[in-house]
Amino acid sequence: MATRIPQEFIDEVTSKTNIVDVLSKYVQLKKAGKNFVGLCPFHEERTPSFTVTEEKQFFHCFSCGRGGNVYKFIMEMESKTFPEAVIEVAKMGNIPIPDSYQTENTNYQNSDSRTLLKMYEETAKLYNHILLKTENGSHALKYLNQRDIDDGLISTFSLGYAPNNSDLLLQFFKDRSISENILRKSGLFAENQEGELFDRFRDRVMVPITDEAGNIVAFSGRILDKNASTAKYMNSPETEIFSKSKVLFNLSNAKKSIRDNQNVILFEGFMDVLSAYKSGVTNGVASMGTSLTDQQLYTLSRLTNQINICYDGDDPGVEATYRALTQLNDERFTYGVISVPDQKDPDEYIRSEGSEKFSGLVKNGVQTPISFILNYFRRHYNLNNEHDQLEFLNQSLQEIVKLSSPVEIDMYVGRVADEMNVSKDSINKELDALRRSNAIKQPAEYKDIQRTALGGSTTTVRSSKFDRIEKSERCLLYWTISFPELKANLKGNNFQFVHENYQRIYESLLAFGDINDNTEMSDFMNGLDNDGKNLLAELEMMQMPDEYTEQEIDDYISNINNSDLESRVSDINQQLKQAAMVGDNKLQLELTKQLIDLRKLLTSN
Ligand code: UTP
Ligand code: MN
Repeated sequence: MATRIPQEFIDEVTSKTNIVDVLSKYVQLKKAGKNFVGLCPFHEERTPSFTVTEEKQFFHCFSCGRGGNVYKFIMEMESKTFPEAVIEVAKMGNIPIPDSYQTENTNYQNSDSRTLLKMYEETAKLYNHILLKTENGSHALKYLNQRDIDDGLISTFSLGYAPNNSDLLLQFFKDRSISENILRKSGLFAENQEGELFDRFRDRVMVPITDEAGNIVAFSGRILDKNASTAKYMNSPETEIFSKSKVLFNLSNAKKSIRDNQNVILFEGFMDVLSAYKSGVTNGVASMGTSLTDQQLYTLSRLTNQINICYDGDDPGVEATYRALTQLNDERFTYGVISVPDQKDPDEYIRSEGSEKFSGLVKNGVQTPISFILNYFRRHYNLNNEHDQLEFLNQSLQEIVKLSSPVEIDMYVGRVADEMNVSKDSINKELDALRRSNAIKQPAEYKDIQRTALGGSTTTVRSSKFDRIEKSERCLLYWTISFPELKANLKGNNFQFVHENYQRIYESLLAFGDINDNTEMSDFMNGLDNDGKNLLAELEMMQMPDEYTEQEIDDYISNINNSDLESRVSDINQQLKQAAMVGDNKLQLELTKQLIDLRKLLTSN
């Protein structure tokens, strides 16, 4: 573990890093005026509140209030300590890191989880070794090679082979003195009726499953023998480090490609992902045999807003695609469908037709959902039968009415008209009728409420929540941070902020010294606690002119000072009431005198 990272190194990393580049790895950022905006990665939202200023090198979410510099982002996003975050950011920017500051992965905070990660890594190495280097693994290697899975792919995906042996792995970890408790927690073993452990995976090709960061957290093992009586794929059970609903197979490898291609391809099977990868289609992922969970969608939404579904070309695959399209109505994404011809799954298609044909399909063969759905309906209905015809028309119109582009609408109206041998005009009339009845079902009012609830005007809501005093504090602190002469002036007058959160930042500022550039600003932030960082970023995000005026500063100061007097006045009024209640004349007199003094001060200000 790194001890202390020298200030010069931190400053070097700060000055060579652009927060926009780093955050773009996690959030899709769009330019909006001077800033960049996107969906906050720290919570679910549909309207962007997450703002990044390149000029000041800060981020701030107007919805959850989180904010800070690039290190704070990595600390929160990856649950890292400050030194770990500095190293991480340095790595992203290819800034050479002195050996002594290399830190280990601490994404998994508790020590059991870290042990499990280590065990999975060692297990993958062991199985990989057995596959490639031992007689025991030779038939598995032959099997993979028959499937066109070469050494390159085996190494990229760390594939392995678990031999037909019930205590190979068990012995391996017992030799390494792993406790029984951890062995049981690991999910790498199953238990017989006597409660004894044995290797869970036997005689299977092992496919490691990684988390987003590339740590191996589970395995899927495929049988070699087609006729075996057990499941084709056996997956690790859920453990402290593995949750089926969160993980997407190959996401860690595919991340960059997903961003570069601005879409992700969703496959049904691991083998499809592998084959596609080999044919140069590297932005593919697969869920673990289930439909996408909210968590997985959320993860993807940070990388892209286009999901292309490439399921098997057989009937179950087509049904699954239709289901996926109807279920995936998440507005954060647009969807596409890549249909694999000849009832094949993508892996089979690639092996029979070649990489180029497949990458061509991926490039040029992406269907819109509506186009897929209309084909799907057509296949389901016998268009020679009148009843089916009307059903087809009905279903198709329900889909077309959801479209917003007039060109698209016209195109698909045309298609349906051709299909049914009726005029476009009559289809358009039907469509109008449907729109009217939908409008009655969903009154305009509701849309307005929805819009307001999701509405983007959080900024104005937020800023109006501060009273005059607090606004003055915020503006005064903002200027004081960037203009040392103001700081000196306040310090000389023993100035105090009313609210503790501003006072704390102010005190840190006095201790820190002058801030002249972004690097110093970042250093200042590094020294604040979590709340302080959020607040500083929020202040720095305020839309302020380049220069302050003397007059506004005087106003802020007098507002703040008066607030002190005002609240003391109301305090004393309270005490007066109590003194009157208990009949304490002496105290009443004393308090009244104080009150008169305070009022004098207030009017002179
Ligand atoms: P498929 O049976 O389509 O797998 O199941 P595949 O990719 O074509 O496999 P190969 O080519 O025969 O080797 C698709 C996915 O469903 C899950 C796996 O995630 C698999 O990749 N599955 C399938 C299981 O979890 N268990 C099974 O027994 C079968
Ligand atoms: Mn297959």
